[in-house]
Amino acid sequence: MTPNTAGATKTTLTDLVLPSETNPLNNLFGGELLARMDRAASISARRHSRRFVVTASVNHVAFNRAIPLGSVVTVEAKVSRAFKSSMEVYIDVWTEDRESGLKTKANEAIYTFVAVDETGRPIPVPEIIPETKIEKLRYEGALRRKELSLVLAGKMKPNEATELKALFLNDK
Ligand SMILES: CC(C)(COP(=O)(O)OP(=O)(O)OC[C@H]1O[C@@H](n2cnc3c(N)ncnc32)[C@H](O)[C@@H]1OP(=O)(O)O)[C@@H](O)C(=O)NCCC(=O)NCCS
Repeated sequence: MTPNTAGATKTTLTDLVLPSETNPLNNLFGGELLARMDRAASISARRHSRRFVVTASVNHVAFNRAIPLGSVVTVEAKVSRAFKSSMEVYIDVWTEDRESGLKTKANEAIYTFVAVDETGRPIPVPEIIPETKIEKLRYEGALRRKELSLVLAGKMKPNEATELKALFLNDK
C-alpha cells in the first residue's frame, strides 16, 4: 500500500449558512456543522484509503465561535494519522469576512473513520506522511487520542493505554 502525505488527503467544503440551518439565535445549528464536518472528513478518509469508510467516533468538537446566518463557512479536513484500519481526521472550520475576505478560525473537530470492505469488515489502510509543522504535531498526538477514545468507548483498559498514561506521567 502506497503511503499518502497528509496534504494529499485535504478536502475543502465551502458553503453558506441558510435560514433553515440556524438555531433560534440565528447562528448555525450545531448538528448542521457536525454533518458538514462528517462529510468533509469522510471524503478525506476515502481519498486516503480508496475504500468505503464509516465514522467510528467523534473524538472532539469545540464550538468556539457562533457562526451567524449568511456566513460563508469553509470546512477543511485532512487525515492526520492512519493506523491499521482506522484514520484520525482533523477538521478546521473557518468563516470569511464579507468585506475583507479575511478568514477566522471558528471551530475544530477530530473524527475517527474506519475503512471497511463490502461487508462492513475493517480492512488495512496505507500510512500517512505528515510534512508541515502542524501535521507533524497532530500526527504525534493521534495515538494517545485513539487510546483515549477506545478507553472511553470501553474498548481498551486504561492500563493498556501506554501513550495516554505517558502524557500524564511525563507532563508532555
Ligand atoms: C467502526 C466499526 C467498523 C468498528 O468495528 P469493530 O468491530 O469495532 O472493529 P475493530 O475492533 O477491529 O476496530 C476497527 C478499528 O476501529 C478502531 N475503533 C473502533 N472503535 C473506535 C473508537 N470508538 N474510537 C477510535 N477508534 C475506534 C479500532 O481501534 C480499530 O483501529 P485499527 O484497526 O486502526 O487498530 C464498527 O463499529 C461499525 O461499523 N460501526 C458503525 C459505523 C457507522 O455506521 N457509522 C455511521 C454512524 S451513523
